[in-house]
Amino acid sequence: MVTVALAGASGGLGLTVLRHFAANRGDHNIVLLSRFPQTYWTAQGIDIRTVDYTSRASVVQALKGVHTVLSLIGGSAEALRDSQLALIAAAKEAGVQRFAPSEFAGSGGGYEIDLYAGKGEVWDAVKASGMEHTRFVCGLFMSVFATGTPKAVTSTGEAEGAKTGEEEALAGLRPWNFVVNMSAGTADLPGDGSAKVMFTDMRDVARFTVAALDLESWPEELYMYGSVMTWSEAVTIVERVQGRKFLVKENSADELKAGCEDAGKRFYNQVRLSLTNGWDVGEHSLNSMFPGIKPVTVESFVEKWWDGVELGEPRWEDDKGFM
Ligand SMILES: NC(=O)c1ccc[n+]([C@@H]2O[C@H](COP(=O)([O-])OP(=O)(O)OC[C@H]3O[C@@H](n4cnc5c(N)ncnc54)[C@H](OP(=O)(O)O)[C@@H]3O)[C@@H](O)[C@H]2O)c1
Repeated sequence: MVTVALAGASGGLGLTVLRHFAANRGDHNIVLLSRFPQTYWTAQGIDIRTVDYTSRASVVQALKGVHTVLSLIGGSAEALRDSQLALIAAAKEAGVQRFAPSEFAGSGGGYEIDLYAGKGEVWDAVKASGMEHTRFVCGLFMSVFATGTPKAVTSTGEAEGAKTGEEEALAGLRPWNFVVNMSAGTADLPGDGSAKVMFTDMRDVARFTVAALDLESWPEELYMYGSVMTWSEAVTIVERVQGRKFLVKENSADELKAGCEDAGKRFYNQVRLSLTNGWDVGEHSLNSMFPGIKPVTVESFVEKWWDGVELGEPRWEDDKGFM
């Protein structure tokens, strides 16, 4: 039994992890580090410790007695760099033994993407800290196939307070037509769509990450996935389920590099550029370590949220970039 502190778990992926952990905490004690009081979670018996990441003393105090820190911080490049660097320094001072930074992307971290550049500094700092560490690698969240679903919320979403099926399927991710526009019927591929990508449902990211807390030792990287497939294969699945052919555009690396010059679409194009090299699975997978966890596949996710939905003729839309 250890005390595990979750940082940045009041929203997004972190909230999904916290919900799963709170319901499956085993012998572990859970501490929630947040910049704000979280009265709902206090009422659920979670130990809330409010922190000011600009005050070392505040964070060190909040980490008293903590064995493992799971960082789920997101929001901005500054949050990913500055708050996490502060958290690592404080964790070391407080005697924390294990630290997993907020990664949850492709192998190698994708530090060439501007928004994730600070994650690279954080990774170097955690490696230099002497704390045991790992990088959780899950590829893309499967929620990329959720945006626009008109399906109704299920009991799972209702229990989480979701008002719509889309909100449930997004599981905390902001709606965004990334590569595929599921309603419009288009695929704006990284490269020719032939590189392999891991796709993982965010609730499975939560299950695997919480399971990894019980490992006796952590390798440098811990992979997890629901499906490993190319974008082209994923689009074929969507076409079968939706019963229509998608309009598909391939984008060469040079075209994506040029697209990075458009500030409003820089992140979109930088991530797609990274995906042209594949976000494939690596050596140590939590899927192999925890065969009892049966993650959602792309096929079952797309069937759940798009089977039987009536859709019109595919048409290109001007998708908004995501900053
Ligand atoms: N692979 C994928 O497809 C994918 C997609 C999206 C995100 N991600 C990754 O998942 C991780 C979490 O991202 P997310 O989108 O879930 O994050 P998010 O919802 O934007 O933020 C999560 C939490 O971060 C904390 N936070 C925000 N600004 C902060 C700041 N300035 N300093 C300290 N904490 C701050 C907040 O917690 P408090 O207010 O409680 O402090 C917030 O609830 C990131 O590493 C992100 O890159 C991966």
